[in-house]
Amino acid sequence: MTSLNHTWKPLSHLEIREKFIAFFRDKLGADAVHCAVPSASLIPANNPTVMLTPAGMLPFVPMFLGLEPAPTPPRLVSIQKCARVSGKASDLESVGRTRGHHTAFEMLGNFAFGDYFKSQMIPWAWQLITQEFGLPPERLYVSVFQSDDETFDIWTKTVGLPAERVIRCGEKDNFWGPPGATGPCGPCSEIYFDFGADYDTTQPHTNHDTSTHPVPINLDSPRYLEIWNLVFMELFQDSEGQRVPLAQKNVDTGMGLERIALVLQGAKNTFETDLFLPLIHALAAMTGTVYGQQDAISTALKIVVDHTRFLVWVLADGVLPSNDGRGYIARMILRRAVRFARQKLGVLDLFLADFAAVVVAHFAAVYPELEGMLPRIQSILSREETRFIETLERGIKQLDALMSELKATKTSDNQGISGDVAFMLYDTYGFPVEMTQDIAEEAGLRVDKAGFDEAMAAQKARARAARKSQTLVDNPVYADLLATLGATQFVGYDTLSQEATVLALIQDGELVEEVSGTNTSFEAVLDVTPFYGESGGQVGDRGVFSREVGHHGLTVVVKDTQKVGDLVVHQCLFDNGEVLRVGETLMAQVEPSARHRAAIHHTATHLVNAALRKVLHGHGLEITQAGSRVSPEGARFDFTCDRPVSPEQLGQVEWLVNSWIQEDPERQVHELSIEAARESGALMMATEKYGQVVRVVVYGPFSKELCGGTHLERLGHIGLVKIVTESAIAAGVRRLEFVAGELALKQVRQESAQLSRLATLLKISRWEAVSRVEKMLDEHKQHQREQEGLLTQLAQYQLAMLVGQYASGSGETPQCPKILVHQVLDLPADSASARLKSMAEQAENSLGKNFALFLATQVDDRVQFACAVSDSVVKVKGWKAGDVVKQAASLCGGGGGGKPTMALAGGRDVTQLEAAIEAVRQQWAL
Ligand code: SER
Repeated sequence: MTSLNHTWKPLSHLEIREKFIAFFRDKLGADAVHCAVPSASLIPANNPTVMLTPAGMLPFVPMFLGLEPAPTPPRLVSIQKCARVSGKASDLESVGRTRGHHTAFEMLGNFAFGDYFKSQMIPWAWQLITQEFGLPPERLYVSVFQSDDETFDIWTKTVGLPAERVIRCGEKDNFWGPPGATGPCGPCSEIYFDFGADYDTTQPHTNHDTSTHPVPINLDSPRYLEIWNLVFMELFQDSEGQRVPLAQKNVDTGMGLERIALVLQGAKNTFETDLFLPLIHALAAMTGTVYGQQDAISTALKIVVDHTRFLVWVLADGVLPSNDGRGYIARMILRRAVRFARQKLGVLDLFLADFAAVVVAHFAAVYPELEGMLPRIQSILSREETRFIETLERGIKQLDALMSELKATKTSDNQGISGDVAFMLYDTYGFPVEMTQDIAEEAGLRVDKAGFDEAMAAQKARARAARKSQTLVDNPVYADLLATLGATQFVGYDTLSQEATVLALIQDGELVEEVSGTNTSFEAVLDVTPFYGESGGQVGDRGVFSREVGHHGLTVVVKDTQKVGDLVVHQCLFDNGEVLRVGETLMAQVEPSARHRAAIHHTATHLVNAALRKVLHGHGLEITQAGSRVSPEGARFDFTCDRPVSPEQLGQVEWLVNSWIQEDPERQVHELSIEAARESGALMMATEKYGQVVRVVVYGPFSKELCGGTHLERLGHIGLVKIVTESAIAAGVRRLEFVAGELALKQVRQESAQLSRLATLLKISRWEAVSRVEKMLDEHKQHQREQEGLLTQLAQYQLAMLVGQYASGSGETPQCPKILVHQVLDLPADSASARLKSMAEQAENSLGKNFALFLATQVDDRVQFACAVSDSVVKVKGWKAGDVVKQAASLCGGGGGGKPTMALAGGRDVTQLEAAIEAVRQQWAL
């Protein structure tokens, strides 16, 4: 193939970004201004059915569905970080091997919510790529959904493309969405770039409908590359696959930045654009390899570059490597990168942290925030890499041996690595199945993935059975309710009781029309509620639903409140009354004291977050919030930090928090755009829900945090915050637990009472207690040392006493050893076995070089044995101490053992003590 001859001006990735945003923001006239929004997190907010953001549209799903108000104006443009590395749409296998696939990529997109539609979008798209980007029209083709005549006509009549360049395709190619199990979707129209006849293939065309359109364009051929997808989102798909029209018509477009850069820069593949080529060269230099000479090395360079960028992004967004969900994906990608680097690029040492720094520096103009996060990202990478290479070599050896064996005995093509073996490699050596598949494929073998999935599912089922808990989101009933009922109106910031209508009742996971019967458990959804559903780390509210007596009187206890998306689900227990039906009204009342204590702890958590950052920043440490949990009973705050917080630092945090409380500023709540919130420096979690308008809670100059929880009106209402513990909960993640308000006072009282009790016991003042205990510990250690010395002497003495009376044999030679079999009396119960052992250990001193010693004793209802046999006797006569005690103990219904020269054992049948001693005597021919 010749390199691509292009006539347009190459654009750098920075220029492409700028032109795309400027086109939608500035160039379409006053009526079509698009607001530019930054990339949301790769972790979707409130979308449990999606692992990592797969498309630019994902953050806006609630707006497409009309569940959240559209922004004003209802048009957005963004460059969104995306990942396609899990599930059916995974591109993992293609990375580095095709022209344009990545685990993570950036998507240029514009979005309209019930605003413009096909007739504007299509001409704009054409204008952007042919005029702004300068691509020649004769190199472009488009596809449309087969029955979408309107789109076909716009392309041919309005834009003026010849009909043979507009190809009708079926649902597989030209229908997009939903991005998760359910959601918005619609027909789409894709724009393809033609690389020219040099890239043609002889395969028959497969994906266009020849009955409606006879032109033989094969869009699956490498000659054509999809560069932009225009989706006309007008349908909603439910969990059964049924589609219904949405209330509004929406536009969602997506153009892969890497691919458009490839085309505009005339590169051979996306890795040879300015997005990646400097990284490829840097990695080649680091590893002493060359790009572009050997396929295996070039592919490995591409894979490692791609994977490292993926890791930098997901770790920055708060994913931590683990064995589940997103954490698994991060761990799998990391291990895959390490394996390629070590096996194909000859890397011997840790390299990911260093290379991550190169990646972050390369993208500094686009993602400047990554620089501050780099130390944390590097420490996670190094820890994970170290952990993996400990088992990698052993696992590879085992897998290699297995594969040679398989190949040697290969009888049919079906043979490959079984699911159980793949699972063993995962379980024992930490090999993600994707990596086992890579290695097996290189050796021409297959992996039984279905068998692996079964083994994995079986393990998960075991773990689940052990946990026995199920979350609401596991049940599609709630997602369907959210889709049909929409978000529940939450009024709980302003009131704790509210009249409401029952919209849905759920019992045993199924929708029901009514519930009744004391102690019946069920869930209820209302049209409006003052109950706070668990989110943002704050637990759900408790309280009651009630109705006046005389009017179908009723009491329902609300034990907990959860959220599924923005649907608030009350977990209830029917208490009193006849029946509760869908459509009825009731009074929903939150338990005020529990809510108040939750608010105290939530407010305290904001202060701890701010103070901890401040104190640790002063020590050169930057932390990221990893989670929090706030309840009426206490609070905890999890954060990433690779070392413990010292007691002095904890003291400073506590001091700072309590001094802010004394200042007593009033709460201010601002509704801001996400950009304004970010600019104002408000703290936010990478995984926090992304919306156009966010709630920022501010307390004076001390704390400013993006949060939907419930908080106190004034800081002074907290009273006091007391830190209870600081600990590690996972590698690199620490947890602070603390209490606030009355509970803090109670904690202080309890700690103080403990100290008083100690002082009373020691008969000294509380202030002397610590130094006294330290002194006592020193003395105790000294006593222990003395006691050990005395015990040794005593053992020696006891043995010396025995030797004269019972020793048999001269001990001159190993053939004729000194033998001593003896029952020792009156040993103290708590140290009997230690004494016996120490006597046996002294045997050589008292009995000389050639000896055999068996000691037995009874303490309470147990018997204990010790045996020592000198080396020489073990060799010559074959008497082994371990065997001797085992035999004696088994006679007494017990067991034990040890080395041939020294062993201990015990049993519970004291009646057999004599018999056991006799058996040893006989064995040693006494
Ligand atoms: N959602 C569509 C895609 O991902 C267009 O943005 O291709």
